[in-house]
Amino acid sequence: MTNDIENAIKSHGQEQVMKFWGELSPESKDKLTAQLEGLPWNRLGELVEQYVVRRPVTDIPEDLVPAPYFPLQPADDKMAAYYCLAREEAEKILRAGKVSLLTVAGGQGTRLGYDGPKGTYPITPITGKSLFQYFAEKIYRFGQKYGVKFTWYIMTSELNNSQTIDFFKSNDFFGLDEDRVVFFVQGTMPAFDHDGKLLLAAKDSLALSPDGHGGTLLALKRCGCLDRMKREGVEYLSYFQVDNPLVSIVNPLFIGLHALEKSQMSAIMLAKTGPFEKLGNFCLSEGKLQIIEYSDLPDSLAESRNPDGSLRFIAGSPAIHVISRDFIEELTAGGYLNLPWHRADKKVAFLNDQGELVTPVEPNAVKLESFIFDALPLAARTMILEADREEEFAPTKNKTGVDSVESCKAMQIERDARRLERTGVKVRRNAGGVAEPVIELSPKFIADDADAAAYCREHHIADLSQNTEPVYIG
Ligand code: UD1
Repeated sequence: MTNDIENAIKSHGQEQVMKFWGELSPESKDKLTAQLEGLPWNRLGELVEQYVVRRPVTDIPEDLVPAPYFPLQPADDKMAAYYCLAREEAEKILRAGKVSLLTVAGGQGTRLGYDGPKGTYPITPITGKSLFQYFAEKIYRFGQKYGVKFTWYIMTSELNNSQTIDFFKSNDFFGLDEDRVVFFVQGTMPAFDHDGKLLLAAKDSLALSPDGHGGTLLALKRCGCLDRMKREGVEYLSYFQVDNPLVSIVNPLFIGLHALEKSQMSAIMLAKTGPFEKLGNFCLSEGKLQIIEYSDLPDSLAESRNPDGSLRFIAGSPAIHVISRDFIEELTAGGYLNLPWHRADKKVAFLNDQGELVTPVEPNAVKLESFIFDALPLAARTMILEADREEEFAPTKNKTGVDSVESCKAMQIERDARRLERTGVKVRRNAGGVAEPVIELSPKFIADDADAAAYCREHHIADLSQNTEPVYIG
């Protein structure tokens, strides 16, 4: 261990992390040393003071107003022409290979009652394709359409990196080129006790946990992904979460508007279903765009209404972004990222002074995470585009109920049924208007409406109105 680290430990009063040093094997010493070297020592005192010892209060700016956005349907002819231009621009950008894809997949399927990386969860209603397979097939198909091979960056965490890679390997990368699927591991943050002391999870290990999806940006730099993007001439990243299979991962209007508006970071918005829907809220303060989490927006603002009765803060975030590579380079230039931390009080198992593992029954520790959307106020220019919730957003957060596996499958079926109907195919619907047969379209062949039309024409699929059996097309 270097003198610098030893001095840092002493000057920060964190000597407890060395308590069992004398008992450690050389390998264990190396492990703990590497973890200690990775800590942000130059900011640790400030972090502990600001976020652990004092309880941070989320300041809600007084001047908060709803953020403007481009509507789903253009408001007038001028806007319609601008949307056409944006789509043309995106076509050029995509064909030139200037877009890569980025999925944040550091989470586990725990809330789904599933033991494994969330991306490996079987999500489609008939064939049970995993979230990863579903995205991979879309990426394959969009690559064919634009005559490129997209590079797909997948952020994993130390909890699930090797399992995720094994999953792709054992499935032959779902038809994608192996070297076009890039896994990179997100950073970690240590857990602190309420006095700001670093906790040990073992004699040779700090209690570490993923540093939040805000860590994506720095991890992209640290793992050489930004350099690779630059080498490959990639200028834009299409960012999405692993839990939403419906997301339009290659959205020409979104990409085109981002470019035309010279935005550094853009976001998709959805009209919230109600004041307290669990979505981040798009707001402006001093002209700067920011997302205020559902848990932080005061009720009075969440419930405030326009004269026509609609919600004032209607714009919710499904966590879908386009981010310019040069913006990420700018943000991470100094080797660190100045995003605020968000505190969570959690139960974290830790070693006591006697070296025994204690499993607490009450929250005993503070974990810190940063959020990617906190980069929005740092961007010189931003842009928000409205999307159709039914077409774009079916998050899988829980096993049943709202935002669940159940609701996600139902939404996939309805989206695919509408897609077929828009191409003129008749679909059997019950008295309540719900599509009767379980339908699943394979994104490897059908990634958008144009694909659906071509596929159905070629395969003479025109009438499913008598079908009650599941219909898998692909
Ligand atoms: C998130 C957003 C919320 C948005 C909603 C849309 C936050 C804090 N809030 O809520 O604004 O409206 O999604 O569905 O994110 N992840 C990592 N590493 C981490 C933490 C998360 O990769 O350290 C990934 C997860 O795998 C997942 C995504 O980030 O893909 C979102 O995380 P999750 O904890 O599900 O966020 P939500 O609270 O559901």
